[in-house]
Amino acid sequence: MSIPNLDIRPIAGALGAEIHGVNLAKDLDDDMFAAIHQTMLDHCVIMFRDQDISPQAQIDFAKRWGKLHKHPFMPGLKGHPELLEIVKKEDDVHTLGGDWHTDQMFTAVPALATMLYAKETPPAGGDTLFSNMYMAYDALSDAMKAMLADARTVNIYTKNKGRAAAMKNDYSDGEPEEYVHPLFRTHPETGRKTLYLSYKGVTRRIAGLSDEESGPILDFLMKHATRPEFTCRFAWEPGSLGIWDNRSVMHLAVNDYHGFRRVMHRLTIEGQPIKAA
Ligand code: SIN
Repeated sequence: MSIPNLDIRPIAGALGAEIHGVNLAKDLDDDMFAAIHQTMLDHCVIMFRDQDISPQAQIDFAKRWGKLHKHPFMPGLKGHPELLEIVKKEDDVHTLGGDWHTDQMFTAVPALATMLYAKETPPAGGDTLFSNMYMAYDALSDAMKAMLADARTVNIYTKNKGRAAAMKNDYSDGEPEEYVHPLFRTHPETGRKTLYLSYKGVTRRIAGLSDEESGPILDFLMKHATRPEFTCRFAWEPGSLGIWDNRSVMHLAVNDYHGFRRVMHRLTIEGQPIKAA
């Protein structure tokens, strides 16, 4: 195997890189895929520009990473049930993913990675923020790490959250349930420890603690994990394709483009049962 040298351009000190010179519709032999996969592990979130791929080609690329994951409560695109079309129209007030989170933390086996392909973007705004959860874990004091070493969080899908009109929930396959995950986890591929968290609509509390006890701890951890020096920001253009590692990042869709339309095609890849740190 000869791993190609990619043109990798980091976009921030903490995480995130653009990969240039790759045409995802043509260039994906095993060596190229191995190089892209390693770049995602190294930079946590990667972005390709100026791609022209069909829903089926996006699905085929996503399948290289693992089995596709179907959103449990949101119907997919007609003919491609795993592909979620995220639409925010000119007059929509809410957006999908507008709070810090990691994907599918409200399921038994949350997503390994997410692939987002920009179809329509506003002239400015509509960026996605990412935060490096390795850095967030590493920067906690030893005492805090020890105190929370065995902590587990209780997570559930936020049923009544405001969402753009096109993003309708469907509970015909079952109602949201609570799932418990370790607060600190070990990344199955890098072996590094991360803080594993979403906003309070999903991560409701630390198991075994009362709301009064766990609330301030979760508030502190969220503030800590989203310190500017742990983050990067992706500005999308039509044809941009981003992939992020849900095991090592949180993300947030910035809702700052009222009056404009944004359409993204999103696929998630199944993870593995989570190992505590
Ligand atoms: C998401 O949270 O998966 C959506 C991110 C985005 O639309 O920027």
